[in-house]
Order: sequence, then C-alpha cells, then structure tokens
Amino acid sequence: MRVPGYRDTPPRPWDTTADVDPGEAADFLRRCYAENPKFGPVGPRLAVVAAQLAATGTYTHTPDELAYGAKLAWRNASRCIGRLYWRSLVVLDRRRAHTADDIFSLLVTHLRIAGGHRPIGDGRIGEATRPGHIRPVISIFAPAVPGRPYARVHNEQLIRYAGHDSAGGVVGDPRYVEFTARMRAYGWQSTGAPYEVLPLAIETPAEGVRLYRLPADAVLEVPIRHPEYDWFAELELRWHAVPAIANMRLTVGGVHYPLAPFSGWYMGTEIGARNLADADRYNLLPEVARRLDLDTTRESTLWRDRALVELNRAVLWSFESAGVRIADHHTESDRFLRHLANEERVGRPTPADWTWIVPPMSGGLTGVFHRYYDEADQRPNFYLDEEARHLGRYGTPPPGCPAHRPAGGAEPAAAPAAAPAETSAPASRRAGTAPAARPGVPAAEGAPALSARIAPPVRRRPTYAGDAREPGP
Ligand code: ARG
Repeated sequence: MRVPGYRDTPPRPWDTTADVDPGEAADFLRRCYAENPKFGPVGPRLAVVAAQLAATGTYTHTPDELAYGAKLAWRNASRCIGRLYWRSLVVLDRRRAHTADDIFSLLVTHLRIAGGHRPIGDGRIGEATRPGHIRPVISIFAPAVPGRPYARVHNEQLIRYAGHDSAGGVVGDPRYVEFTARMRAYGWQSTGAPYEVLPLAIETPAEGVRLYRLPADAVLEVPIRHPEYDWFAELELRWHAVPAIANMRLTVGGVHYPLAPFSGWYMGTEIGARNLADADRYNLLPEVARRLDLDTTRESTLWRDRALVELNRAVLWSFESAGVRIADHHTESDRFLRHLANEERVGRPTPADWTWIVPPMSGGLTGVFHRYYDEADQRPNFYLDEEARHLGRYGTPPPGCPAHRPAGGAEPAAAPAAAPAETSAPASRRAGTAPAARPGVPAAEGAPALSARIAPPVRRRPTYAGDAREPGP
C-alpha cells in the first residue's frame, strides 16, 4: 500500500485554481463540532458554509474552527513524535495581515512568544514572560483564494543559519549554501560567520520578495558546552532554540493556508544527531572524536557512535543549563506512546511514519522502535509542496515552474526599494534607498527591511537531494 506523504509517494498535489472541496469542508466541520460540544450543533453551520461555497467557491473559518483545525493538523502530522501536546498549540489568527511589513512584524511576535519572551496576548490573561519556556505556536495568515496569488515565506524555517562555499569547505550550514547565495544576490550582506541567521524572504502578490533581518531578541540561541569536557566550548557551537517550519501549507476543511509557520521545542537528537552531526550538515563527529582522542582508523572502534553520544549530551546539557526547553529522545518516545494510548482510548487512529518517528540515534532503546503504526493521509494536515520545497532550499522556484508568478504579476510598477547602495547585487537589482514609510503600515518590529525584487528563475538543474528524511522529525 502506498500512502501519499509517506516515503517516496508525493502528497496529493495542490490545485491552486480549484474551489474548496465541499465534502472535505463538511467532513472537517462535523469532526470539529463533534469533538467540541461547546461549539454547538453543526447543522446550521453546515448550511451557512454550503451557501458560502456555492456563492464564492470558498468559505471563512470562525476563529474557533481555525484554532481547532490547526490542532487537528498537528494531531494528524504522521512524522511528528511530539504530538502528545497537540491541544496546547497556541494559535495566532493573522488572517488580516497582507503587507510584507505586517507579516514580518507578526513573525517576529511569533518567535518572541514561541521563545517565552512575551506573553501570549490575544485576549489570554495570566501568561507570563519566561524566556526559554518554549511554547508550541502557529501563526495563520490569509488563506489562498482559488486562482489568486498568495503571500508566502521562501525560507524553510524562520530561523536558519547561512552557509557559504569557501576554499576550505563550507562555512556555516551546507544545507543552505544555495539559499544563502540567492539572498546575497538579492542584496543581503552577510558576515560569513558559521552561525549567522539568514534573512526572511517574504513574498506578497503586491510587493514581490522583500528581505528582513530578524532582531536579536527574536532569536533565542544556546551556546553548546559539555558537562565534563571544557574543550567543548572551544568548538564554539551553538543552535537556535525554536524550530519554526515556515514553508508548509496548512489545509483545514478544504481551505489552504500557504503561510502558516509553526514551531515547537527541539528534541535533542534533531540538533545533536542531525544538524550538527550529518556529514552533509555541520559534520562535527570527526572533530569531536579527534578531541576525545578516539581511534578513528577503523569503523569498528565505534568512534562515530561515541562522539555522537557526547555531542548529544552537550546539546541537552547546554539547553537545560540555559533554562531552554528541550527533550531527550527517550522522554519524547515515552510521551508519544502515551499519546497513542490516549487516542486509542477515544477510538481514533494515529497515523505515524516509523521512519520519522524513530529517533536518529539509539533507535532500539526507545519504545517507539518496537512496533508498527497506522499509515494514513488524514486532513487537516500540513503539506510541503514541491515549489515551496524548492524555494526553501534554493531561493528560486523549480525550473520551468509555470505557477510561479514574479512580483505583482510582472515587474512591480513601483519596485519596493532595493538593497542598500553598498550591496553586492548586480546594478540592475539595486535601487538605492530604504523604502519610504507608507501610510497605514506599522513599522516592522525591530529590524530594518532589506528589499529585493524577485529575479527570473535560474535555469539550471537543481540537485534534488532526495533525502528520505529531510529535516529530522
Ligand atoms: N528537525 C528540524 C530542525 O532541526 C525541525 C523540525 C521540527 N522539530 C520540532 N521539534 N518541532 O530544525
């Protein structure tokens, strides 16, 4: 059996011109109201939605439906081991924001809330500011209107580190070498440091692509040290505290939300056994093994495994010492098994992808290894479209992608001001000054905007990495 979204079977493609599927809308509403008696009877709501669908081809979720739909999408996310807490998702309804400045400002707020730097607001009372107290958050921007262009963020995650090719190899995160080059071509000025946060590339139909620097207080980071080995600090490793996936499409009841970044807290192995360890990422095991004075001449000394354990201890210990929420893989495995039991008790299947759920180290030591799971593509859910995937890796749409519309249809009439004059971008993409404040647009929180017009797609064959497990669970 081949289930869309599992292994090599692509998810069902998104037809951006199609009207909302009335069956999917009704299925969602029935489930939503059945699981939430306080929402009242579903009958009258179904009638209202049917009328909206007939008249416009789409319909508008109530705030309650939207919030519950986002939680269901998390509950259905078959690759996520962290689903025990699906009810606790903080849902920020951002459907009214349309300009790049407004979107950026709200993404900054997302990161501050997710990192515990800021009370949740939005009407909730009693939330305190506790930096490091990571909370799962989703910001949901305007749904796509069938046949119309929509806003999106090109980055894979809101916080990621740049990567640069250099004579001595890649400096920074090799995963983002192409994306980084594209940001520089847009006029982003990079320092070339190994853990330099990439700018956000926000695209709106009216403004094209604009780049924004995240303010420092939106990016909580943890320097990595080891509980016993003092030399570990000399490696000057660090990682960001909030993983925030920015390029997946949220689908709720047939309505598509192409911009709905969501974040949780890290499981240590995502950083220690993938981001910092993978040979095509920061590739630190050889260096850690050398410092540990391990025999690396033969695989059978298990030097990789020994270095991996120390690297992962360092990650967990550093986050814990810094008061930043993180979980080890044994704990997350136990929680996931509890989640499965909870769901079974209320008679719901839990779709799960073994290849993503089992942690990338010590798999057999965790309970999640020793069983099989239901495989199903249940909606609401999150999907990674091919175009979004390509933009996230390369900063450009896939070659020959007909769906991709450059800014505002063609070249924007009044091009948003481009990068600062000292930019390294070609003169054609340089316009000189910073954008003049436009009436009615609140200043983006924190940082100045860099701006860029989208360049024509680069005509070259992308290297499809085809990694079966893209960014770890
Ligand atoms: N594995 C990805 C990373 O290292 C993050 C994926 C989401 N993870 C999470 N804990 N919510 O950045």
